[in-house]
Amino acid sequence: MKCLIRRTAFFFLVFAAVFAVGCGGKSGQSKPGESSDKEAGTEGIAAAEGPKIGISIYRYDDTFMKLYRSELKQYLEETYHAQVIMRNAGGDQRVQDRQIREFIDSKCDGLIINPVEASAAGTIADTSSKAGIPLVFINSEPDESERNRWKDRHMAVSSVETDSKQAGTYQGQIILETLKKGDRNNDGIVSYVMIKGEANSDASRYRSEYCVKALTDAGVKTEELFSGTGNWNREEGKKLAAQALSVYGPRIDVIFSNNDAMANGALEAVEEAGMIPGKDIYLVGVDALQETVGYIKEGKIAGTVLNDHQGQSQTAADTLIRLIQGEDAETRYLVDYIKVTMNSTFHNWKGND
Ligand code: GAL
Repeated sequence: MKCLIRRTAFFFLVFAAVFAVGCGGKSGQSKPGESSDKEAGTEGIAAAEGPKIGISIYRYDDTFMKLYRSELKQYLEETYHAQVIMRNAGGDQRVQDRQIREFIDSKCDGLIINPVEASAAGTIADTSSKAGIPLVFINSEPDESERNRWKDRHMAVSSVETDSKQAGTYQGQIILETLKKGDRNNDGIVSYVMIKGEANSDASRYRSEYCVKALTDAGVKTEELFSGTGNWNREEGKKLAAQALSVYGPRIDVIFSNNDAMANGALEAVEEAGMIPGKDIYLVGVDALQETVGYIKEGKIAGTVLNDHQGQSQTAADTLIRLIQGEDAETRYLVDYIKVTMNSTFHNWKGND
């Protein structure tokens, strides 16, 4: 973080000056109606000389988004002295829409939105644009036509994304790097279980599709034995894995999980089923949670893919501040995934915490 702070130091000075002259009143004064900012769901408000930023997260109980939102808040406060109002949409798009209205009514200078439903991006962009408030989407992949619309209409809207196809491809490559390219029981076919994140999520769709594609592109035969949706959740991941194991047991070579929380749950199910992970069955996830990286070091999980929450949150914050200052920004910033296995250069790394 330190070097990013240095990189943005100049940026911050310019920004602070702009705010002192132009918009200081917005965030510097506390109005009676703003006391509600301290209600449940607000994660603290720091020094108030910077911009007022409204953030809505699709669910607070999502393990990866916990890391993301705490980095986002810390970076905005430390680097831009922002006043951060953060809200939990609790998995309900209507709740998030109301939160966005509240952000607008309380004169936020910029919004960072992690949409509950990716399909809501167009409406959210129109709402913030009509109110003249810059917006950055995070952790979602608004489609190209929507992004082109922002550009054509000169809307102050951007998005910080990852390439889910890249994450899936890395997961497949991790399995190809295992003994017998994942064909643990040597029957000429990699029989797998797919534990998906969410229905209607591009991240889930592409991670699932591309991990299998990496195997078939390498000439490996595959067969899907079981698939289910675990809502990115450890307990649900564990339940699905237990269900698959009870039906298919030793026929399963690989359990692909769309994220690490579910992979960690699947690992528990494998151990409870009396199988030896890393020997009887291979597991792979995405996110590089610290716990999962620990299991990789123990040889229980074959690998994961680093989902760079620091890079993403800092890019989102920097982009929003640029838009608030009236500067141009791309409609899309892509942050790379990184493969993490026992043999990768990342093996000494502790994991996302
Ligand atoms: C993904 C992440 C998952 C979950 C999901 C929520 O990028 O890998 O763990 O947080 O976002 O949309």
